[in-house]
Amino acid sequence: MTDSHGVTEREAFDVQGAEAVVRLRDALQGVPVYKPGRPPTVVPDVVSYKMSSNENPYPPLPGVLEAVAASAAQMNRYPDMGATALREAVAADLGVTPEEIVTGTGSSGVLSAIVGAACEADDEVVYAWRSFEAYPIMVALSGARSVQVPVTAEGRHDLAAMAGAITRDTRLVIVCSPNNPTGPVVAAAELEEFLAQVPADVLVVLDEAYVEFVRDPEAAEGLEVYRSHPNVVLLRTFSKAYGLAGLRVGYAVARSQLAASLRSCVIPFAVTELAAQAALASLSVKDALLERVADLVEERGRLLAGLRDLGYDVPDTQANFVWLPLAGHTQAFAEAADARGLSVRPFPGEGVRVSVEAPEATDRLLEVAREFRDRMS
Ligand SMILES: Cc1ncc(COP(=O)(O)O)c(C=O)c1O
Repeated sequence: MTDSHGVTEREAFDVQGAEAVVRLRDALQGVPVYKPGRPPTVVPDVVSYKMSSNENPYPPLPGVLEAVAASAAQMNRYPDMGATALREAVAADLGVTPEEIVTGTGSSGVLSAIVGAACEADDEVVYAWRSFEAYPIMVALSGARSVQVPVTAEGRHDLAAMAGAITRDTRLVIVCSPNNPTGPVVAAAELEEFLAQVPADVLVVLDEAYVEFVRDPEAAEGLEVYRSHPNVVLLRTFSKAYGLAGLRVGYAVARSQLAASLRSCVIPFAVTELAAQAALASLSVKDALLERVADLVEERGRLLAGLRDLGYDVPDTQANFVWLPLAGHTQAFAEAADARGLSVRPFPGEGVRVSVEAPEATDRLLEVAREFRDRMS
């Protein structure tokens, strides 16, 4: 029997079922898989909370939905390739020029362009570990090697060890402050000392995805560091404090020539007009944003103090999450939380990361933690 194209049924099946034998880069073999935070299990008669992806629990800021809806009517058009209005607004907000801004599909999109720009096969990228799980993926994809320097027992970057890990093959260093998933920041003084030891031709990315939540007066201030170190690039996002994770928009701040090179590595039209308009509208109501961030910071304090009062050893956090280094108890804790309608992010054998959510979620998480402690003792 043949179809209208003269292909027999058997041939059509073979074409669809055949395994591809195309050649892909060897580097793909070692690429780890990104494990996204799970949505919560639905528990009858209980409001569930997703505390597994460091998202913002608030709905879009005032005016954002309207801006997105207005731009949605134009979705048959490509966005502004240069994201000009957004780069101008971000630059004005930070006190830099639009030429120093590189936008992309989330800060992950920008970071992937940075890694691609800086690294080729067998180069080395130094970063703390555990840190953001996209780093090893991006490095492996580029063909470069990850040099992971363990964080200290307090979940802090060991900057002395990181400086010692830099070799002639190092092309990129990533410093994550606050560190995901452990929480602490890098202090200004220790970062200065570290940067003095990094060769001037090695790019340093300071990943500040959670910068808006920082309250530690000792914390390194990205913009200050950027101004005095031409090899430092800041990485920021609208996904966390701004609550636009689903729209995928983030940016880097880099010296203008470097920024131009980085822009050439970002896929064309990376930032949709919807995302750009949402980010612009959010920037225009910064006071409302800062109020929400202040509430989340307060809730973070309650979660952190509650866990410590229960006897948990929780490192300082300056982000919108806390880290419970539960080692072998990690999976059991995540399951206990899930049974109560709370999804947290387990890193098997290491610990659990819990994102700050609504006050009710904090209360319930603390109950879970109390019951878990009692069960384990
Ligand atoms: C430290 C850090 N950097 C960057 C990102 C990437 O965020 P996005 O791509 O949504 O901007 C995340 C997201 O979890 C993160 O934790």
